[in-house]
Amino acid sequence: MLFSLLINFSNKGAYKEPIMIKGRIVGTGSTIPKRILTNKELENIVDTSDEWIMRRTGIKERRISSDGQREETSDLAASASLKALEMGGIPAETLDMIVVGTVTPDRQFPSAACFVQKALKASKAVAFDVSAGCSGFLYALSVAGNAISTGSCKNALVIGAERLSTITNWKDRSTCVLLGDGAGAVVLTPTTDHDGILSTHLGSDGSYWKLLYASSEETYEIPEILDIAEGKPFYIKMEGNRLFKKAVSCLADIAVSALEHHDLSGSDIKLMVPHQANLRIIQAVAEKLSIPMDKVYTNIHKYGNTSSASIPIALDEANREGLLKAGDYVLLVTFGAGLTWGASVVKWYS
Ligand code: UT7
Repeated sequence: MLFSLLINFSNKGAYKEPIMIKGRIVGTGSTIPKRILTNKELENIVDTSDEWIMRRTGIKERRISSDGQREETSDLAASASLKALEMGGIPAETLDMIVVGTVTPDRQFPSAACFVQKALKASKAVAFDVSAGCSGFLYALSVAGNAISTGSCKNALVIGAERLSTITNWKDRSTCVLLGDGAGAVVLTPTTDHDGILSTHLGSDGSYWKLLYASSEETYEIPEILDIAEGKPFYIKMEGNRLFKKAVSCLADIAVSALEHHDLSGSDIKLMVPHQANLRIIQAVAEKLSIPMDKVYTNIHKYGNTSSASIPIALDEANREGLLKAGDYVLLVTFGAGLTWGASVVKWYS
């Protein structure tokens, strides 16, 4: 039965190529909060310097959301989604699925995705969140892409959205200088052509969870210069140096596996869009894959680490800058708390 679904026979019984259905990215969008928090301002909050942050991370500034500006996670996500839907020419009411990768939903429940569904009036869509640390967007992309491949879903919205500022310990200089807020979204439709999301490869290892997690062990104060209405009883704890080494090896290994799966190498990639955790991590991974930095999209200097939102924001900016053409191979790679990691190979459609 399954076999007959996968293999297509003509009336005479002659073998035909199997018809592969994949998700194709037809629209991208992103929204970032208005408030810019510079390294210079952080010098007034913790014992740090613009020079240290730039040299060790590549970050110059980041965006911080505020409730007063209607910049909750689902607000940012819905705004990014509207831009992606408009680009793709897909009406919200035709969406079958909305998946949000996030670790900072508006509330513990319901999901950020349900708030997005309400805001978009996407009444037909099933909506849910995926929690996979900074890898949330690629995990969500994998879920939606697989749903399209099985035929259970046609049009899907995949979002990465975060307000890390609400779980940041603003007394901890080793983490607060890294993080920022924002959202990015892509719209998927089915294709039987040779383009689309060729495959997404994922990995997890819970035995390293203590390298990066949210804790409720202490409370923290929000600095006066930040207009964050209310703190959450969790904040981020990280063992940055050990995480750095795991990030480089996991990212490079999964990217190689994903490329080899399609008989590709780094030289076939038109653009790598990596998770923006640290410029030095990105450079080390690019070197291992023999991808020159002019084929690697970075915006970490403007936004810092926005967790699940970083890849879809970067992909949208690259797309709107005209860096992606039909037929280009694009490599998305991610790594985050869990530990989780992943890589997607996309043949671009535009
Ligand atoms: O997105 C999820 C995945 N995230 C990651 O993979 C992040 C991975 N880790 C990193 O990006 C880097 O490890 C950090 C940027 C977090 C830290 O950079 P590092 O080069 O690994 O620095 P370090 O932790 O080894 O610290 C070096 C020094 C320490 O001082 P001592 O002990 O050498 O005197 C830190 O206390 O830098 C100090 N330091 C700072 N100094 C000024 C740590 N944070 C700061 C700071 N400003 N903000």
